[in-house]
Amino acid sequence: MNELEQRVAELNKLLHEYGHAYYVMDNPVVPDSVYDQLLHELIELEAQNPSLIYPDSPTQRVGGTVLAGFEKVEHTTRMLSLSNAFNEEDLRDFDRKIREAIGEQVSYVCELKIDGLAIALRYENGVFMQGATRGDGSVGEDITANLKTIKAIPLRLNEPVTIEVRGEAYMPKSSFDALNARRAEQGEELFANPRNAAAGSLRQLDPKIAASRNLSTFIYSVGGDAEQYGINGHDEMLSYLQALGFKTNNERLACASIDDVLAYIEKWTAARPHLPYEIDGIVIKVDSFAQQDELGFTAKSPRWAIAYKFPAEEVMTTLFDIELTVGRTGVVTPTAILAPVQVAGTTVQRASLHNEDLIREKDIRLGDTVIIRKAGDIIPEVVSVVLDQRPEGTTPYEMPSHCIACDSELVRIEGEVALRCVNPACAAQLAEGIKHFVSRNAMNIDGLGEKVVEQLLREQYIADVADLYTLEVEPLLALERMGQKSATNLVEAIDKSKTNSLERLLFGLGIRHVGEKAAKILAAEFETIDALREATMEQLIAIHEIGDKMADSIIAYFDNDDVGHLLEKLQQAGVNMTFTGKKVDASNIDSFFAGKTVVLTGKLTQLTRNEAKAKLEALGATVAGSVSKKTDLVVAGEDAGSKLAKAEQLGIEVWDEARLVEQFA
Ligand code: IVH
Repeated sequence: MNELEQRVAELNKLLHEYGHAYYVMDNPVVPDSVYDQLLHELIELEAQNPSLIYPDSPTQRVGGTVLAGFEKVEHTTRMLSLSNAFNEEDLRDFDRKIREAIGEQVSYVCELKIDGLAIALRYENGVFMQGATRGDGSVGEDITANLKTIKAIPLRLNEPVTIEVRGEAYMPKSSFDALNARRAEQGEELFANPRNAAAGSLRQLDPKIAASRNLSTFIYSVGGDAEQYGINGHDEMLSYLQALGFKTNNERLACASIDDVLAYIEKWTAARPHLPYEIDGIVIKVDSFAQQDELGFTAKSPRWAIAYKFPAEEVMTTLFDIELTVGRTGVVTPTAILAPVQVAGTTVQRASLHNEDLIREKDIRLGDTVIIRKAGDIIPEVVSVVLDQRPEGTTPYEMPSHCIACDSELVRIEGEVALRCVNPACAAQLAEGIKHFVSRNAMNIDGLGEKVVEQLLREQYIADVADLYTLEVEPLLALERMGQKSATNLVEAIDKSKTNSLERLLFGLGIRHVGEKAAKILAAEFETIDALREATMEQLIAIHEIGDKMADSIIAYFDNDDVGHLLEKLQQAGVNMTFTGKKVDASNIDSFFAGKTVVLTGKLTQLTRNEAKAKLEALGATVAGSVSKKTDLVVAGEDAGSKLAKAEQLGIEVWDEARLVEQFA
């Protein structure tokens, strides 16, 4: 080796050592300036002598190429997730089941649950070959180029082993704050939380972006059988991974009993805000591999581990006002208007208060300081009032006695918690009824948004849904923000809706208790609206899915003279009133999901993405990858990010996983 070669080798060695101390051990051994100086020397020597560039040289972390897309990577063994525990009882249950299965001698390892994204890294003979995302657990995406830019990921291990390791890539809080500050300055959209920022960075096709984002990793397991490396337990394996050169988390603790586990949780619940990275819980694992093998797996997760999730973040804010809205059926719904506040990653300024009883029960008053959280991490709700911060002179909140839209007296129907406006001519109900009539799952008339409907009513262009069919282009041009093109499109869309099959009309009419599914069943069964109008109670309840309450409501609806008049007007306008739909597969016709476009986002814990997709498709839904105006429903699992935000922005219905599973049952 000549002098030059020796110097290049030495620089590689030193930079590797110093980088490892800094990025893996969090324990720098030289000042940054020394590292930078050596790195620049190496960059220069390599530039003059390209044949001396080592493949694992620290200069090789950012390659020059921008990818066209990510390749798929099939995982050698499935990347599972963990089942969740939310309280002490769940944890004691977990412990009891384990001891019942394997006896009293069990030792646990507790670890911090890093809030990032799962990655799998493959090394051959000690050299980093490929890194992938979790994806759906079976197939992920090849993000090697981006992962190479993370300095905590060794490009070469201390031993020439062939191994796959798994862990979490994350963005430290300080990098996240700096990144968002930069983005704010440049007027770019901010990331909601460090996890989204990390995931967003690793999804970039240009590795330079990931390189600029200061990501890091913690490695917590071996993919496949770890015993082949002569290791017998999880704790020992983490030490081995650290010796190989990986960054492991040193806050882990071996616990001899579930009480020790609970103490660890208590400690980290308090200390969590002081950590330099986000955690969302604690992972508890049986230490011994032999015992892990004995316990085995369920379809989704190992029986030897569980994730304790911290309770939903609760924050304080001020309740400015309670907004009341009158729905299509006259139900008055109160919504809390809040001082904007960050909760679990998004800014919240409204929260549903459900009904009068809830307001009374929690004694929520205007001006109160309230505690809010997101139910299922998704839907904002008021948890309680901070009484000792209540301003002086407040009085209990009183719901109005009269409708805010039409001033008729509100009533409380026996057995219902809701207050209702029962005036059929109420302007607010009418507006809501028309919005429902034109909505996508009903008559599907595009271009009739909330503002247009309100103007049409205000300017007395329409007084009911049948009047929509009398609208013409010319007069529409007088409305705000209505140009020739939108007016023409609107009239065409209205005209097109005349040919809809009966079930759309039935659903659109908004007969109480008749949802989309029932409308389909009724339309297919009776085929014409006249046949349905003549149906008797007996005929109706003879249909499997139609109960007494719905049958009563249908009969009462058609018994009403105003309804008769409305149907006549619709008929004269040329609206189709017969069933022309496909006699779809019986198993699909009564599916809530039939014909709907559903987007799954976030982590699902009770079933895999693929299982959810397969079930939805079997029930007639189309499962789409991105949220748009065409989406009917978004199912948001844990830690849902931008798709959930987009759904909220577009006002698309959002369910949590529990509700989806319930619907499948
Ligand atoms: S162990 C069989 N340990 O939490 C699954 N997971 O559902 C083994 N996570 O997606 C996972 N920190 O990405 C494990 N110390 C830790 C973790 C951890 C974060 C993530 C992981 C997984 C999810 C658990």
